[in-house]
Amino acid sequence: MSSFNEERVLSVHHWTDSLFSFKTTRDPAFRFRNGEFTMIGLKVGEKPLLRAYSVVSANYEEHLEFFSIKVQDGPLTSKLQHLKVGDPIIVSRKATGTLVLDNLTGGRNLYLLGTGTGLAPFLSIIKDPETYDRYEKVVLIHGCRHVNELAYGETIAKDLPSDELVGELIRDGLLYYPTVTREPFRNRGRITDLITSGKLFDDLGIAPLEQARDRVMMCGSPAMLADLKTLLLARGFVEGNHGEAGDFVVERAFVEK
Ligand code: A2P
Repeated sequence: MSSFNEERVLSVHHWTDSLFSFKTTRDPAFRFRNGEFTMIGLKVGEKPLLRAYSVVSANYEEHLEFFSIKVQDGPLTSKLQHLKVGDPIIVSRKATGTLVLDNLTGGRNLYLLGTGTGLAPFLSIIKDPETYDRYEKVVLIHGCRHVNELAYGETIAKDLPSDELVGELIRDGLLYYPTVTREPFRNRGRITDLITSGKLFDDLGIAPLEQARDRVMMCGSPAMLADLKTLLLARGFVEGNHGEAGDFVVERAFVEK
């Protein structure tokens, strides 16, 4: 049996010149945990050209959704960005990843810290009712250079709070904090600086981040992950993984090309 399914594109949304997302059909047998990634791609000649993509849609949804950058000379995304409704796309039958609830111990607040397309895995996690069973507040921070890169902002702030299944949980439990670094916006600054200065907690009206009670998932560029990890380790946080649940977990935002 092949380790891939062939799905069809259901819709495509272009956020900016360099960011887009798309929905596909989903083989009912494809199972994943919210926060995981899978390999997806296109057939180029006879060979599949594949990259790791976090699944944006929640695991109870009928379709799959992915969020991608567009790189004009990138082997996969230069082609993927031209996807049209009805086009075929290859999706692995397996999903994996460290950004899953079971890799963290319980706590008061869960921080989901993402930059750029590093937002993707958190979109499925904030739609998971289990997330709100385990934590009092879920604090989603999305950091980008520019305002127009804050993809899914309206979905998170306007659509999800009225969602039939998770709307109430989201209204009571989710704090969404988009921030940009290179132009004026209501929230400004790097995630690391907002934590260090305490501005994030003042703005949200919540207690500052502490190892005894808070848990963190992070996804973004290698530089952002390295700095955030240093910040957490200095505060006594312990990294979790598949072997052992910890205070924080890390995943690189994939698709660079
Ligand atoms: P900045 O504009 O100050 O570089 P990128 O597109 O380069 O991945 O950046 C996405 C967002 O992540 C930007 O707001 C960027 O801020 C921020 N960022 C980049 N490097 C770091 C880092 N080492 N720590 C925290 N935030 C970072």
